Formats: sequence, C-alpha cells, structure tokens
Amino acid sequence: MDRIVYLDYNATTPLAPEVLEAMLPYLREDFGNPSSIHRLGRRAHEALARSREVVADFLGASPEEIIFTAGGTEADNLAILGTTSAAGEGERRHLIASNIEHHAVLAVLRHLESRGWGVTIVAADERGRVTPERLAAALRPDTLLVSIMAANNETGVLQPISELANAASEVGALFHTDAVQACGKIPVDVRALGVDLLSLSAHKFYGPNGVGALYVKTGVPCNAMFLGGGQERALRPGTENVAGVVGLAEACRQVQASLDTEARKLARLRDELEAEVLERIRGSHVNGRGVERTPNTVNLRFEGIDGRKLVNALDAAGFGVSTGAACDAGATGSHVLVGMGLDREAVQGSIRVSLGRYTKEEEVRTFTRALESAVETVRANRDFVEA
Ligand SMILES: Cc1ncc(COP(=O)(O)O)c(C=O)c1O
Repeated sequence: MDRIVYLDYNATTPLAPEVLEAMLPYLREDFGNPSSIHRLGRRAHEALARSREVVADFLGASPEEIIFTAGGTEADNLAILGTTSAAGEGERRHLIASNIEHHAVLAVLRHLESRGWGVTIVAADERGRVTPERLAAALRPDTLLVSIMAANNETGVLQPISELANAASEVGALFHTDAVQACGKIPVDVRALGVDLLSLSAHKFYGPNGVGALYVKTGVPCNAMFLGGGQERALRPGTENVAGVVGLAEACRQVQASLDTEARKLARLRDELEAEVLERIRGSHVNGRGVERTPNTVNLRFEGIDGRKLVNALDAAGFGVSTGAACDAGATGSHVLVGMGLDREAVQGSIRVSLGRYTKEEEVRTFTRALESAVETVRANRDFVEA
C-alpha cells in the first residue's frame, strides 16, 4: 500500500487498535440483537448499557441522556429537527446558528427556514469567534434554539460555549453545540458548558465511522426524526449498531486516559509547525491565529497560491492534508473562511493541516520542508493554474 504521512485527522482518524479489539467480539460471536431475550441478546444489551455509561461519564452526563446515532450529521439533525418538531406550532419560531457551522447544522436551518421558521445567522469575527455580544444581538423572546459549534473543523477555533449558552438561557432558548471536533481534543463536560444538547462523532477520535451520540438534557422536549421501534427511548429507532457503540465507548475511554498528554504533545508539534512555516515561507499566514484553538489544527494561508494545487502537490510528495472540510471541496471554497471575512483569493490559498495521535515529530519536520518546496513549485507554475 502507498505510504502517506496522514495530516488530515479532522476529516477522520484511523481506528485505534484497542478500539477494534473491543469491537470484534460484537461482530463475531456476540452478534445478538439487544432486543432479543436469549443470552446473546442479553449480552448485546449489556454491552450497550455499559457503553452508554462510559459515554455519559465522558461527557459528565447521565446514561439516560445519551442517544446513540449513526454519526455527527445525524446527531445534529436530531437536535434541531427533534426540538423544533417538539415545539410544534408554539410561540417560539426563531432559530439561531453561526455562519461557520458545519453543513449538518446550516442545511437543516435553511430547510426549516423554507418551512416558515425565522432564522438568524450570526457572523463570526475575523478570527473565527462567535462572541456573546453578537449572539445577544440576535436573540429574541421567541428564539427556540441556538446552535453553535464547540470547535471549528477547519480552523480549530474554540467558541466560548458556556457564555453563549448562558446568554441563550437568559431568553429561555435551548442551546445545542456541535462538539464533533471538540470531543477527543479538549475536555467536554455538558454541565460545565451548560448546554441542553450536544453532538459527537466516533470517527473523529479513533472510533469507527457511522456512529455518534446526541446528549439530550433530561426534560428537554425532543421528538424522533425516524419512526419505528422503541430503541434509544424511541428517539432513534432501529436495531442498534452494537459493535459501533462499543467502539465509541472504547474511544471515549482512551481519550479520558490520555487527553492531557496527547493535547500537550499535539500543541507542541502544531506550534513548531506554525513557527517554522511562518519563518521559512514568505507570504504565509495562520487563519484564526491568536485565539484559543484545538491543539491539533492549523489553517495556513499562502499568498499567490491555489490551495487545491498545493494539496495535490503535497499528495504527490506523500502527505495527506486538505483545503478544508470535504463538503466544501468544490469551486466556491470554504464557507468558514468566507464567514471570517477572507476574500476569494485568500480562501482559495488556504489549507488545513490537522495532526493526531499517531503523528511523529520527524513527520512534522519533513512535512514543513515538503510544504516549503510545494509552495515554491505551485507559485512558479501559477500562470498555468486554471481558474
Ligand atoms: C463540526 C462537524 N460537525 C459534524 C460533522 C459530521 O459528522 P459525521 O461525519 O459523523 O456525520 C463533522 C464531520 O466532518 C464535523 O467536523
């Protein structure tokens, strides 16, 4: 197999070997349906219950507040569609999100707007932060729900979630945070944050694809999106993905055991990378610099560069990075960077580098050198870059 130095951990992470080990029995001999009464069913049911406790503990929640889903997108959809459906034709018909949210939030709000909901999109500042003042200006007495992400997938910029949630609760609005990029990278505690709903996704922190969870605080009205059986308190019917959920729980357990050390290592590598790039490559910048970020993420901008060309040149040299979120890979480029006020050329000249658990110090060094020469090559061939 082609060897690649993988520096795209915000897109997805490799499955940790320990997570795979924990999952395997539930794909082989313990394959039962958790709703079956016989011993195989009971074993699956117990695995599900144990996993729910682990995920709840990871978030500082109670087990009955955890709804397993098929990933982050589904958790975000359930949070927004579920609470708006439960509110029905009530007096609160207004929703708020920021302009740097993932499409799993923005697309749902656009859909609801087309169904008559009032929607306000709050703009992040030039460093990618959604400030409590900007949120306060958008809140209304009829605001039902505010959805603002804990950490941005492209820049890593952290949002002041507890202050934002507090502002929302002052007008009686619910607060959802998409913590898909925060979980596994920084401590996340639902009670300390003061949120009502929180989404996470296993594949962003060494668990399997296609499994995630939504925290729904006890007492928060939320309806199901799908109809069927009574699984997951009937909020997410369908036979549970037992192996996936066991994998999610094991991934949580591992993060809990190593979060501080891992975060310190990643921040050191990331800071070294940033400093080297800024020093060695003229016309280079860091998007979202100077504000708190996840320790593994750096969004780099190069003057006079097409980021897609740069990503391709780096791929040819054996390094996997990205221009931003996979869903923004088209011609318009990152809505997050546009949302931070960058012009078209700056947006297209940006790439995201995201480090992770298996990133080695020497890989970061060789990457910096490869980046320097790739930037030179792409700049030298600028005339040949198609629009
Ligand atoms: C911030 C954020 N929210 C939601 C998602 C969607 O998660 P999933 O891939 O599990 O559907 C992603 C993944 O790209 C993300 O980065």
